[in-house]
Amino acid sequence: MERIDKILSHHGFGSRKDVKKLLRDELVSVNGKFVYDPGFQLDIEKDEVTVDGEQIKLQHDIYIMMNKCQDVVCANKDGEHRTVFDLLDDSLRHKFLGGELHCMGRLDIDTEGLLILTTDGKLTHRLLSPKTHAPKTYAVGLRDSLTEEEKLKYTEKFSKGFRVDREQNESGFDAQPAEIIFCESNESAARTRHEANKTANRDSESSRQDVACLLTIYEGKYHQVKRMFAQLGNEVVYLKRVKMGSLELDPAIPLGGYRELNEKEIKLLQTE
Ligand code: URA
Repeated sequence: MERIDKILSHHGFGSRKDVKKLLRDELVSVNGKFVYDPGFQLDIEKDEVTVDGEQIKLQHDIYIMMNKCQDVVCANKDGEHRTVFDLLDDSLRHKFLGGELHCMGRLDIDTEGLLILTTDGKLTHRLLSPKTHAPKTYAVGLRDSLTEEEKLKYTEKFSKGFRVDREQNESGFDAQPAEIIFCESNESAARTRHEANKTANRDSESSRQDVACLLTIYEGKYHQVKRMFAQLGNEVVYLKRVKMGSLELDPAIPLGGYRELNEKEIKLLQTE
């Protein structure tokens, strides 16, 4: 239960003063009856609220799937670059009942793809916790193409895990086993390549890249994917996250675009 003025304000209907005016003007009804009192207690699980005749979807938390584009950073503020929050519509620039809208994990400035923005701090904490081992899959473009022999070597290395050197102020780490699937020319691999390229390149002329492989990791160290390939003497020249847990990036979302997750997708994340 929560005051109606707070709830409507946290659903994008302006300040509490703005909501007071809506109530006074008989624009807000709860379960079919006008409400005038800003202190009216609302049950967001049960009550049906309409504002100016339109039913409002009441929610404690918000969950957004973004297809992050390059040149934007995963930060609240950045003096130099646009942030992922700058890509959001004005209608999402308000307080939410569940708290601060934040990124569930970070992608580098030059990494594209699946980014979840949410107010659900508990879910973020759980999915990013090393204990959860939530898988994250990336489509990777590499500087150096690989011979069959090198592919075998990479597959073995990734499947066992290996030591990654320190990078500037970041200490080295023992990368845990990961799964790599190369996009080759035989039929099933051709399909993999096609799928990877489809999600990687849709609507993205500027970043159209050849995807060499899909890599699934179960942890999230700083620059992890780039550092793992660098350790093997190669260089990541294109990176796109295509999956987190069981949740895949919706290929219909253009680069820099986003949409809210549906109930089924939220459940997928919550049961990870
Ligand atoms: N690994 C990286 O190196 N960069 C990212 O953005 C994500 C994973």
